[in-house]
Parts: sequence; C-alpha cells; structure tokens
Amino acid sequence: MMQGHEEFLEEVLITEEELQSRIRELGAEISEDYQGKDLHLICILRGGVIFLTDLMRHINVPHSIDFMAVSSYGAGARKSTGQVRITLDLTASIRGRDVLLVEDIIDSGNTIASVLELLKTRHPKSLQVCTLLDKPENRETEVPIHYRGFTLPDKFVFGYGLDIDEFYRDLPFIGVVRADKYIPRNP
Ligand code: PRP
Repeated sequence: MMQGHEEFLEEVLITEEELQSRIRELGAEISEDYQGKDLHLICILRGGVIFLTDLMRHINVPHSIDFMAVSSYGAGARKSTGQVRITLDLTASIRGRDVLLVEDIIDSGNTIASVLELLKTRHPKSLQVCTLLDKPENRETEVPIHYRGFTLPDKFVFGYGLDIDEFYRDLPFIGVVRADKYIPRNP
C-alpha cells in the first residue's frame, strides 16, 4: 500500500494557483515569440507531460507536439548518473522546424544537455528550452534555459509531474518530501 502524500508532505512549495498562473504567463510569452514560426514542442517523458498539456493550452499559435524518453534516474535513485540513454525516440523529423524542448525540471542539467546535443545533429531551424522548474544549485552541465517557470532550492520535491518512486505525479502542486516520514516502496 502506498502512503497518502499527506503523511510525508513537509510543505507545499508552489501551489496549484501559482503554477497555473505562471504557466499562463509562459504560454503568452511563447505565443508572442513564435508568431509566424513552425513551433514544434518536444516533451521528455515522463515528468514533463503534465506541464506540456497545461502549457500548450495557453499557446495560441499553431504548434505540434512529439515525445521522447531518456533514462537518467533509476526508480528509487535520487541522484543523476550523469549519463542518459535514449529509450524512446521522436516520431517526426525536426529538420527545419522551430523546436522547443519542454521539461518539468532541470537539475544536474545532464539530461537536457545530452538531448540538446543529439537534437542539434538533426538540423532544426531553432532549438530552445522551456523548463517549469530550475534547480541551479545541483548543476553539473551548463545549459541554456530560454523559458523558466520557477527557480527552486535544493530540496527533494514532488508532484505536478515529478514522482517519488513513480507515484504522486498527479498532484496539482509542488511539494517537499519529509524524508523521515516517507516509506520507500518495495518493488
Ligand atoms: C527528471 C526530469 C528531467 C531530469 C532532470 O526525469 O524530468 O528529465 O530528471 O534531471 P537532470 O537535470 O539532473 O538530468 P527523470 O529521469 O526523473 O524521469 P521521469 O521524467 O520519467 O520522472
């Protein structure tokens, strides 16, 4: 049995209202910048999905979406390994398109750096990064961030796409885990 999140929630760091209001602003900014362009949003599974689906409903220029998956953190592990592997590739070509990568969080920066390196070789017209959350204190690889929702302190956060052992992604807010209260799930 999984615990209810109330049992280990230390605090709500970003409320649902704060998230939604910032996402509306980001959508407006992106809409303005990509007017007349061939906007193609790429979401890195799985954490970014919730953000993508909310964000795209506030982008009022025509755009398409695609998904890719990479592995960086194993379930249960909380530190980046510094290596990523493509586990699911894009469906469509990005050649000549204005690509915007949509991420839930940039932490060490290793995931997005590897993805950027790979996608550059496929000749998009432009390639930019939008992340809901930025945790700069843990950065190992410098990455360009063109759109940033919130800057976070170095805390173990969950909710709104971010999991703990693959659960709790559905929560509408970003919370901080009370590590001494969370009971790790047995696989
Ligand atoms: C998270 C997040 C980013 C990455 C950021 O994904 O969605 O892709 O970690 O960390 P980094 O900057 O240290 O590389 P995760 O690997 O946890 O997979 P998930 O999205 O399926 O939860």
